[in-house]
Amino acid sequence: MSKSTSNGIASSAGTLLVGGDITVNRMGFGAMRITGPGIWGEPADSEEAIRTLRRLPELSVNFIDTADAYGPDVSERLIREALHPYAGVLVATKGGLTRSGPNQWKPNGRPEYLIEKAHESAHRLGIEQIGLWQLHRIDPNVPREDQFGAVKQLLNEGIIRHAGLSNVSVADIQAAQKVFPIATVQNRYNFTDRSSEDVLEYCEKNAIAFIPWHPLAAGELTKPGGALDTIAKHHGATQAQIALAWLLKRSPVMLVIPGTGKVVHLQQNVAAAEITLSESEFATLAGTSNNRA
Ligand SMILES: NC(=O)c1ccc[n+]([C@@H]2O[C@H](COP(=O)([O-])OP(=O)(O)OC[C@H]3O[C@@H](n4cnc5c(N)ncnc54)[C@H](OP(=O)(O)O)[C@@H]3O)[C@@H](O)[C@H]2O)c1
Repeated sequence: MSKSTSNGIASSAGTLLVGGDITVNRMGFGAMRITGPGIWGEPADSEEAIRTLRRLPELSVNFIDTADAYGPDVSERLIREALHPYAGVLVATKGGLTRSGPNQWKPNGRPEYLIEKAHESAHRLGIEQIGLWQLHRIDPNVPREDQFGAVKQLLNEGIIRHAGLSNVSVADIQAAQKVFPIATVQNRYNFTDRSSEDVLEYCEKNAIAFIPWHPLAAGELTKPGGALDTIAKHHGATQAQIALAWLLKRSPVMLVIPGTGKVVHLQQNVAAAEITLSESEFATLAGTSNNRA
């Protein structure tokens, strides 16, 4: 049976620790795609979105990445509808981006806004404490120390158990570490886009989980006709599966979150956890990066 149709499970990817005390399988799920076009409003097929979410625990996926801004509110609401009370699944959310329409994203890092939004996320998800909350993007118009102070307050009050950052530099992480412990960092990264290589290396050295967004380059790496073809054929796998297997091999701190609103794509993506690339396959793909740091 080819990898694209096998019933692979996320635990084959191995585990990592989030914040030192929550064990998750390194094959997770990105819940941005269970919304409408432009990550706005309801998904075209909400029943399929719910089916996709309910398939996650069956495939041993126990890490879900979402944000209050996805929809907005839609992704968190559907996750609750499908999976509450989440037995053994860590639902990680983010705050700090506002929405005014499809594909419109604007940061708001005012401390009172961040605190209010984290409370709202907990309420929407139906939980007393968010296991992992990440600052979606540092607002350039608010001193970053003020934003970090808000995160520290959320940790102190127990609204969130662990905290992470997204779309940051090494200098941002170091500045935040003076204020609170960093459990995760989430930046754009895949084998064709390695502009965050220095951030990944910093995470490796500091036992911080690294969550690469756009692991499939927003769908580009699911298409035939590129560097993935030969390797995919060799493994009887899809291009997407090889792109994900590359990430899992790249680092033990890598926690991948491919995004989809479709059960069939979810199953294919999770089956990538069973693929082990050879050193030369890994190097071949690494060598195709456009912007290696
Ligand atoms: N922190 C941030 O600033 C940030 C930014 C962007 C994303 N994220 C997070 O990262 C996650 C992953 O990123 P992403 O969803 O933008 O991009 P991605 O995972 O690289 O790609 C998702 C796209 O690929 C398609 N796809 C997925 N699996 C497929 C398969 N097996 N075959 C064919 N097409 C497939 C999806 O469409 P279908 O729905 O049709 O499958 C979707 O259009 C998001 O869900 C979100 O949680 C974070």
